[in-house]
Amino acid sequence: MKILNNRAELEQFVSEAKKQNKSIGFAPTMGALHDGHISLYKEARKENDLVISSIFVNPTQFNNPEDLEKYPRTVEKDIEKLDDSGLVDAVYVPSVEDIYPDNLESKHYNFNGLENEMEGAARPGHFDGVGTVIERLFEQVQPDNAYFGEKDFQQLRIIEALVDNLKLPVKIHGVKIHRQDDGLAMSSRNMRLSEEERNASTIIYQTLKKVNDWFRVITIPEIKNRVEEIFENQKGMELEYFLIADEETLKETDFFYKDKNYRAFIVVNVGKVRLIDNMHLD
Ligand code: PAJ
Repeated sequence: MKILNNRAELEQFVSEAKKQNKSIGFAPTMGALHDGHISLYKEARKENDLVISSIFVNPTQFNNPEDLEKYPRTVEKDIEKLDDSGLVDAVYVPSVEDIYPDNLESKHYNFNGLENEMEGAARPGHFDGVGTVIERLFEQVQPDNAYFGEKDFQQLRIIEALVDNLKLPVKIHGVKIHRQDDGLAMSSRNMRLSEEERNASTIIYQTLKKVNDWFRVITIPEIKNRVEEIFENQKGMELEYFLIADEETLKETDFFYKDKNYRAFIVVNVGKVRLIDNMHLD
């Protein structure tokens, strides 16, 4: 696996690949890699000649400076994990200057309103930061295919909107949420949970499964009440939001229409750790 330490090294690798007419699959990350990230490369490996990863903690998508500072940085270990997977041809590890040569500002986007829902409302400016870094990474890496996890479903939909609106020549693929054996969605944040908190967090997935059982059986307000009740009885956990939204618009719904797709979204603060999860309802 090649390690590309700056923009010039990346551009050389990409221009060589283009000369040889090789297709490029790309999945960007912020590091602190776990098997959820690796599942993106498994998908990419199936349909591309070359697979590129990137590790870059993007300052402009953090609306809270303390979060940015606390974000785990484990580049050496991450590179080892990518190499051990045997799935990745090259990893791009840019500096801040490679991505933001002029200033640390994000562009302002219109993602067809998707940016105003859920995480967009909870984290002002976050998706402008994500859009900016992804647009720049796509410009530099020039992938044919790019892979994003359904773990961050809103982010996935926003990147589809970005590519659509700007007519970028890349195909976006969503990858199913990779979970631990007991159902907890894999996340770098799980490391920050105490053992007790970690065990208690399985309630999030169990609740989503119950919601799926209740889907189209009881009304959405009833489902919401039951979910709220579950978390009222959980010590050390605070339900930040739970809602059911249309998968297209991401707008919360109180009523199921027949031929639309719906997904449940949940954010729970377990002690000081903010966990997010979601599930397609069928
Ligand atoms: P990061 O949180 O490192 O996630 C990188 C990619 O891994 C995202 O597409 C995310 O959805 C996916 N991912 C994380 N956990 C997953 C899981 N359990 N199952 C499946 N996929 C999972 O998301 C970001 O970084 C950044 O916002 C980024 C897109 C890199 C832009 O800076």
